[in-house]
Amino acid sequence: MVSKKKTSEIWPVITGDYIVGDPESPVAVATLASHIESELSGAAIAGPCKTENLGIEKVVANIISNPNIRFLILSGSEVQGHITGQSFKALFENGAEENKKKIIGATGAIPFVENLPFDAIERFQQQLELIDLIDDEEISTIQQKINDCIEQDCGACEEETLIISFS
Ligand code: LMR
Repeated sequence: MVSKKKTSEIWPVITGDYIVGDPESPVAVATLASHIESELSGAAIAGPCKTENLGIEKVVANIISNPNIRFLILSGSEVQGHITGQSFKALFENGAEENKKKIIGATGAIPFVENLPFDAIERFQQQLELIDLIDDEEISTIQQKINDCIEQDCGACEEETLIISFS
């Protein structure tokens, strides 16, 4: 058995449009503009994420408050205008600018993550592996990736649960 950690007492910490599975699963799935989450199984949390600001902030908050999550699968149709999937990748790869927390390299309309402290962004970058299935709505492909991640699970990250609150 790989080692698991306690999540925050109430997890997920931020409400939203998602379904919750086993909090010890190593996988989170963002289905972007697609509502396909109920057709998937095995993830700790799965649901759409429409916006490149509040939506991303909520996903990051729910991930870093659960150290068992080691993979984030980006799947489903890219969100027109917001380009949320690409913004997730940009945040993961580049972080955010010092002054206004603009996601560096994000091409969406308003990619500002003002509610995320820099330590939360760093934790997001360190805690997990990002898997790019953006624009893929094929349930069997996404499910196979979830299964692969569960098989590769090497346990909770070393850092403890990080809880952030939104202003
Ligand atoms: C989203 O991007 O999907 C969120 O902004 C929706 C929400 O939960 O506020």
